[in-house]
Amino acid sequence: MLIQLQGVQKRYLPGRDAAVNALLDIDLTVQPGERMAVLGPSGCGKTTLLSILGLLSRPTCGSVRIDGTEVSVFSSDRLARTRRERIGFVFQSYNLLPREPAWRNVMFPLVFAGTQRRERRRRALAALEEVGLGSRANHTPAQLSGGEKQRVAIARALIHRPELLLADEPTGNLDSKTGRDILGLFTRIAEQTKSSVVLVTHDSSVAAWARRRVEMRDGRLCGNNAP
Ligand SMILES: Nc1ncnc2c1ncn2[C@@H]1O[C@H](COP(=O)(O)OP(=O)(O)OP(=O)(O)O)[C@@H](O)[C@H]1O
Ligand SMILES: [Mg+2]
Repeated sequence: MLIQLQGVQKRYLPGRDAAVNALLDIDLTVQPGERMAVLGPSGCGKTTLLSILGLLSRPTCGSVRIDGTEVSVFSSDRLARTRRERIGFVFQSYNLLPREPAWRNVMFPLVFAGTQRRERRRRALAALEEVGLGSRANHTPAQLSGGEKQRVAIARALIHRPELLLADEPTGNLDSKTGRDILGLFTRIAEQTKSSVVLVTHDSSVAAWARRRVEMRDGRLCGNNAP
């Protein structure tokens, strides 16, 4: 999947506070199969950038194109379909359903895909195995450690083999060995499915895994961001 941002700005208008310019003038192309790390200090706009790439939020102005088509012309149906069929998202705060066991959290993307119940369960268990959590399938999020919750979120994002994986500090709660295992998993899946991976990280070994690194400061990309 080819995704192109041009002149993208995102302005938040929180309550009575002053507006926040979270993104200013972002030009960025993510090529099919590309691995990219987004770096920068807290508050510089990394999560906001990911949410625009993931079609979870619309820019205040500027253009977002997928495979050459402007996303703002998509119907809400097409937007939702693109998001759940082609994109996988690992949220910074995981966003797991608190009352559901790990396996049901993981199989969710398959519900929308119309996969049969038994097959959903089988694939969810396999996805949990892939992230080293085969023995925690029936635990609810409250019964999991921080790093385990993070891995459930990763399994959920990968279960439908998305063309674009967006991950917000996916190894932030993992020890270095588990973090390396997860990067190994990303590599395998990205190579199998030719998918692109964009991840936000503060970890230099994770950044080194990406073939391209882009740095952000105060809502702007800085440094050499050429593809
Ligand atoms: N929904 C919102 N309403 C108002 N302001 C917001 C909202 N979301 C983010 N912001 C502001 O936009 C700026 C960018 O936020 P963002 O979450 O993208 O930063 P970040 O780079 O991901 O930071 P961190 O590394 O701490 O996760 C911040 O100043 C934040 O306070
Ligand atoms: Mg963030």
